[in-house]
Amino acid sequence: MLNKLKLWKDKNHSSNLRERIIAIRNQQVPSHVAIIMDGNGRWAKKRALPRIAGHHEGMKVVRKITKLANELGINTLTLYAFSTENWKRPKNEVDYLMKLPEEFLGTFLPELIDENVQVKMIGYKDKLPEHTRRSIEKAMNETQNNTGLILNFALNYGSRAEILEAVKRTVTDCKSGIMDINELNEDLFSNYLMTKGLEDPDLLIRTSGEIRLSNFMLWQLAYTEFWFTDVLWPDFEEKHLLEAIEVFQNRQRRFGGV
Ligand code: IPE
Ligand code: IPE
Ligand code: MG
Repeated sequence: MLNKLKLWKDKNHSSNLRERIIAIRNQQVPSHVAIIMDGNGRWAKKRALPRIAGHHEGMKVVRKITKLANELGINTLTLYAFSTENWKRPKNEVDYLMKLPEEFLGTFLPELIDENVQVKMIGYKDKLPEHTRRSIEKAMNETQNNTGLILNFALNYGSRAEILEAVKRTVTDCKSGIMDINELNEDLFSNYLMTKGLEDPDLLIRTSGEIRLSNFMLWQLAYTEFWFTDVLWPDFEEKHLLEAIEVFQNRQRRFGGV
């Protein structure tokens, strides 16, 4: 464990990366960054490896990027790890993906704790296998009082289902008198979403060249800046996150104004 902690603490970036990190920190850093981590399967296919080898490699990138996000002063990093549609995949792949949180947290939870990271999750937890749910809950419990980066996993997450469920609960609360329909507004409605308490993402990144949202945070991304790259998730490096943030910092956000 000492070794692992040491690795984590070694911020041994090249001088070029270090300069870019400092320059980014001197400007407005996106508070919430969301990433659709895509391309694990294609990464494996290119190497004639099974798809799960790509997922394994992708997990290492999660660690690297979490560490950098924390260092950059990003408040929330949401990672789309498994969609409500991903159950359609072959059983062996789904089984492996459901083991990844345990593998990731089993190895890196001490580092996350050491780095003051707070683990959270959005998605349908009840439908996850017991072992997956337990590992996530353990990490959430053990990091709940941490005050650093919020590492928010979107696991078994689907945005349309999230919105529909929020609508149903809103209607129920209006009928029972807990909520006055005339007072319902965007902020109050947001509290019915799984992202309650989290800010909307400022920056969305999707890897692997796909230019779509795949049912991810449809409400929350209304005014988010998008950045797409052809890089496959297992090939995603620190310099790519820095590039995305540099582009973000040069964008002009108008939110409908002038
Ligand atoms: C992203 O990589 C990981 C998940 C969706 C779980 P993919 O597995 O979708 O990789 P490609 O898109 O098939 O290359
Ligand atoms: C989106 O990727 C979901 C995750 C990254 C977890 P997919 O690979 O499932 O998306 P589609 O099927 O290409 O739209
Ligand atoms: Mg994909």
